[in-house]
Amino acid sequence: MSHNMNTPTIDQFMQQQNDLDLLRFITCGSVDDGKSTLIGRLLYEAKCIFDDQVASLKQESITYGTQGGDIDFALLVDGLAAEREQGITIDVAYRFFNTDKRKFIVADTPGHEQYTRNMVTGASNADLSVILIDARKGVIEQTKRHAFICSLLGIKQVVLAINKMDLVDYQEDTFQGIRDDFEAFAKEFNFTNITAIPMSALKGDNVVSRSAAMTWFHGPTLMAMLETTPIPNLASDHGLRFPVQWVNRPHLDFRGFAGTIAAGTVQPGDEVRVLPSGATAKVDEIILFEQKLQQAQCGQAVTITLDKEIDASRGDMIVSAKDPCEVSDQFEVELVWMDDGQGFIGRSYGLQIGSSWVNAQITEIKYKTNINTMQQSPARTLHLNDIVVAKISLDKPVAYEAYQQCRPIGAFILVDRFSNATVAAGMIDFALRRAANVHHQDVSVNKNARNRLNGHKGKVLWFTGLSGSGKSTVANVVEQKLHQQGIRTYLLDGDNLRHGLNKDLGFTEADRIENIRRVTELAHLMVDAGLVVLTAFISPFEAERERARARFNEGEFIEVFMDTPLEVAEQRDVKGLYKKARRGEIPNFTGISSPYEAPQNPEYSLDTTDSTAEQLADRLLAQLEL
Ligand code: ADX
Repeated sequence: MSHNMNTPTIDQFMQQQNDLDLLRFITCGSVDDGKSTLIGRLLYEAKCIFDDQVASLKQESITYGTQGGDIDFALLVDGLAAEREQGITIDVAYRFFNTDKRKFIVADTPGHEQYTRNMVTGASNADLSVILIDARKGVIEQTKRHAFICSLLGIKQVVLAINKMDLVDYQEDTFQGIRDDFEAFAKEFNFTNITAIPMSALKGDNVVSRSAAMTWFHGPTLMAMLETTPIPNLASDHGLRFPVQWVNRPHLDFRGFAGTIAAGTVQPGDEVRVLPSGATAKVDEIILFEQKLQQAQCGQAVTITLDKEIDASRGDMIVSAKDPCEVSDQFEVELVWMDDGQGFIGRSYGLQIGSSWVNAQITEIKYKTNINTMQQSPARTLHLNDIVVAKISLDKPVAYEAYQQCRPIGAFILVDRFSNATVAAGMIDFALRRAANVHHQDVSVNKNARNRLNGHKGKVLWFTGLSGSGKSTVANVVEQKLHQQGIRTYLLDGDNLRHGLNKDLGFTEADRIENIRRVTELAHLMVDAGLVVLTAFISPFEAERERARARFNEGEFIEVFMDTPLEVAEQRDVKGLYKKARRGEIPNFTGISSPYEAPQNPEYSLDTTDSTAEQLADRLLAQLEL
């Protein structure tokens, strides 16, 4: 898109934002239902000022941003913004148009089942959804699916566009029958308002102009509905929610917190609280570029200064002290899986909520909902387009609100640590109290005391590599040598643990993740007990090794990569397992039918092809500081 002549300056834009009469809506339906015709007719008859797609605007915003005084349309389409940063390809077209009454952004997504993730993206910040029905077909599976996703994504207002009325002779009872069907099954959803409108997008009935063929209908046209429906306003009836994006400190006398207001309004003098710490202060100034504001509201990107020095950084949330939100690290959530790769219980994912990045694990999948039948079934892993209710656990508490109450801070994304792709969109239902009341018990004899007694610190030497790479052999020699030096050690070996603690686990990806999770926790306790722990597990996935690393203090986790080419490991074949695997007798065998992700930054990488175990152990010990 070229720079539109109508592009206002940033000041004008902000002024317009103050009136904020902008309705975001989504259209759900397929080409067969007449969706394109409907959107086309709407845009055409509305004689919209401009109409474009975000795909090109997106690039523009990156290039020009807000700095040049131009509109940053990312402000308008800020739904799953982080997702775009993560580079996921989502097939959603956003169109902008306005009438003299209102501005609109319509998200248009493909209607087929495999596009659930697109629809989720389009619906994530829509205020209203237009669900299309072909009057000849009535309520079908697809309609239910669309309604379910709209409800899940917190859309409260639905326009049921019963289209192609011309093909059913504009009959009132056909219209009423479909409307009643829809209302009956939509009862269990969270909609507050369902408006059914009989239409013919093709002929133009009741889209913008009233239909002469359906004088029996006394409700609004689609356009009248879009122009007058109340827009839910997180500005006025919500406490301030301001996720801190960054701390702005151009010089010593100035310290401002920059971000975009997610909900509520703020004025100088307001009492605020910084979460999760809970520290309170008063707002001193609100700054937009060089200008001081008397008030800022939801959707505005501003810098706030406080009346006293408070420790707050990126990821914290500044909230109204009178109406704060809560903080937790365990939640029951709805998850929509958006990745081709599977999702696993126990794996560590990056989680972004507001401006906060933390590590998170799915601890339980309660059930999966079949979006066609609404039936719930158990699930152990997550596949593309799965929608589940799950429990998640974060490694740090974050400020949050239930998604249905405040979408901007109840929504989060999960990011795969290895591929860096956004793998899921999530919505918080509520916080789980189970851990909130379980406090860490302070003990008098602590790690430091034990380290003093032992004369050395506890550490973990994490050996990783293919089966047959020599992990157990080298770890064994290293342990002997440490033991001789009077160091307290313990060797945790894959094969051994699989006879006891991990007897219930096999070699699927899910089981290996659980295997390494348990080993991590066990090693963590042993390091706390003051031991130098040596672990010898294939530990094939980067995500679990990184999660293990994150569980320890700086310097406590030492990753040792046994760098052995598959050919060499296979040739050694000490246990004869590679031969069996090649014959197809062992499924999911690492290196053959299951992947090994080599460490990206191990502390040590040992080339095992030209040295003995003794030499490798010596080489490692020569560099190791305990
Ligand atoms: S891990 O992948 O979960 O870390 P772990 O180190 O505990 O694996 O166990 C690996 C050992 O189990 C191998 O050394 C081998 O002896 C044995 N094993 C049996 N089946 C498999 C398999 N499918 N893949 C890899 N190792 C297997």
